[in-house]
Amino acid sequence: MSQEIFKRVSIRKFESRPVESSKLEKILRAAMAAPSAGNQQPWEFYVVTNQAKIKELAQCSPYSGCAANAPVLIVPCVNQSKLKFPELDEIDLAIATQNILLEITALDLGGVWLAVAPFTDRMQKVSQILELDDNLKPFAIVALGYPAENKTQQDRFDEAKVHYVE
Ligand SMILES: Cc1cc2nc3c(=O)[nH]c(=O)nc-3n(C[C@H](O)[C@H](O)[C@H](O)COP(=O)(O)O)c2cc1C
Repeated sequence: MSQEIFKRVSIRKFESRPVESSKLEKILRAAMAAPSAGNQQPWEFYVVTNQAKIKELAQCSPYSGCAANAPVLIVPCVNQSKLKFPELDEIDLAIATQNILLEITALDLGGVWLAVAPFTDRMQKVSQILELDDNLKPFAIVALGYPAENKTQQDRFDEAKVHYVE
């Protein structure tokens, strides 16, 4: 797995060819393999391939425009009716979303995390576009597909940020 951790980069340009449903299932399995507080697994995932909806979702924030050219968007949401530890719901979703990005990398796809929560205006727009039930709270948008740009990860290791207590 550390191979994926050190290979993952944000990809914002995509080929138009679709992502195989077998790969999408692997990505969703990776998402749901994430740890969560009290094992509450508070997530649900919308997998959007409808082009009109993709274009609408790409306009939900000033920083989500690149989603417009993705063949698939995954929108992880919190199901608020199932929370044992509500204070930790977004942390759980963040971990699941990182698992999505790592599995995307493992499958030679590319993707990027586009922030939705905790910005209420973005959350409202996504809820409207996807016609989400009131108990569902959109967390993020992951745009993904076959990469149409080549990037290598920067080495961000910084020893000055490490504090050993011995
Ligand atoms: C919580 C979070 C929110 C992000 N939101 C956006 C976003 O709205 N739009 C975008 O283009 N990239 C977004 N990104 C991607 C970051 O810009 C990117 O991870 C960062 O620049 C580091 O680059 P790398 O992912 O290639 O290592 C987000 C990443 C995280 C973790």
